[in-house]
Amino acid sequence: MNDDPTALREVPTAFPSDFLWGTATSAYQIEGAWNEDGRGESIWDRFSHTPGRVKGGDTGDVACDHYHRWREDIALMQAMGMRAYRFSIAWPRLFPQGDGALNTKGLDFYDRLVDGLLEAGIEPFVTLYHWDLPQALQEKGGWTNRETVHAFAFYAHAVAQRLGDRVRYWITHNEPWVIAFLGHHFGLHAPGIEDSGASLTVAHHLLLSHALAMEAIRSQAPHVQVGITLDFSWIEAATPDHREEARAMDAWRNRWFIDPLMGRGYPADGLRDFHRLGWLDAPALPCVEEGDMRLIALPIDFLGVNYYTRTLIGGEGERERTDIGWEVYPEGLYKLLNRLAFEYPIPAFYITENGASYNDAPGPDGEIRDTRRIAYLESHFAAAARALRCGVPLKGYFVWSLLDNFEWAEGYSQRFGLVWVDFATQERRLKASARWYRDFVRRWRASER
Ligand code: FCB
Repeated sequence: MNDDPTALREVPTAFPSDFLWGTATSAYQIEGAWNEDGRGESIWDRFSHTPGRVKGGDTGDVACDHYHRWREDIALMQAMGMRAYRFSIAWPRLFPQGDGALNTKGLDFYDRLVDGLLEAGIEPFVTLYHWDLPQALQEKGGWTNRETVHAFAFYAHAVAQRLGDRVRYWITHNEPWVIAFLGHHFGLHAPGIEDSGASLTVAHHLLLSHALAMEAIRSQAPHVQVGITLDFSWIEAATPDHREEARAMDAWRNRWFIDPLMGRGYPADGLRDFHRLGWLDAPALPCVEEGDMRLIALPIDFLGVNYYTRTLIGGEGERERTDIGWEVYPEGLYKLLNRLAFEYPIPAFYITENGASYNDAPGPDGEIRDTRRIAYLESHFAAAARALRCGVPLKGYFVWSLLDNFEWAEGYSQRFGLVWVDFATQERRLKASARWYRDFVRRWRASER
């Protein structure tokens, strides 16, 4: 695929010259060093150390050892010609107890990382919360407790105070849907709670904490861009009989967070659904206090969009899937971006995650020929190019992920990396897809626009 000179010839020209091509990771999935330099315990340490929670009993104790190998990882990004890098900060490294005294060693790590990225010409995108709540706060109710909202704003303030002079792009939360519902309704993610009513309270507190954190960041660094990353699926009904189910899924999965952020309040149809299901005593949220919805609707500078797959309600047929079982459906990215740009007045979009799990192993010559990942990325880049041509203000694209890493409840069984990691030796090796991405960005740099 790499040798085909015509591959994607037209696509690079669709992306403007200031477009930010990058990769994404998150702290717990790559850092390791879970108890070093004063880092406190997070809910993912507790969860992964609890037998039966994560496939194979895997934990993030060591992960990709990025905490010690970050220089090597920046060099990999440089070798790939990346312009931007999205990573997350581990809250318990800074505040081992959630709030109170700052552990400066923790913040120093990210300070060095940011400087290293800037020296390498790579724009840092910081995510403040990618799921690793300090366990000490969980003991007090975690995200069900309104106090956690204030602890988060306090943490955001401390990070912005230190890094706000160099980091221009800030993301408050990553995928609040997953935090609220996989973590508190299905119990599949930390903290492993199954309480539907509580999951809706968590969702609300996450949105409120996003708003307060945004204000805290802007107070320290008024010139920066602040946004939030939501996960979306392209939802379709396979038959007319499934339309009602698709509507309900859309309210829950896609509109639950973006509507209140855009000043529309929580979707009324979703509130009725949750009441009918018994998650709520009435079609209203008891945890909403006066002024909350106005705060939540404070304008964002950009929306981070994570897109992986389609949800086809009532259609179980044969469809192309990645190794984690998610359907390959690039058309959904194109339609989703158009829908978001058409329905909501958002000034800028970044694809903050898109990628695929393919567990290709090194061949006899050591090469990792992950041609299915190349095809996946090629088709999704083309979908993004089409959306740009329709006028969607898309400004950047982060492939998930830079490295094979700890895939939450799936442990190390799913490899999403452009770079292959041998978890026994910590050796890194560029996969064919990493070289393809490098060449794509080269062609884009060279293309006439
Ligand atoms: C997203 C997460 C990210 C990664 C990918 C595969 O939901 O944000 O950490 O696990 O899925």
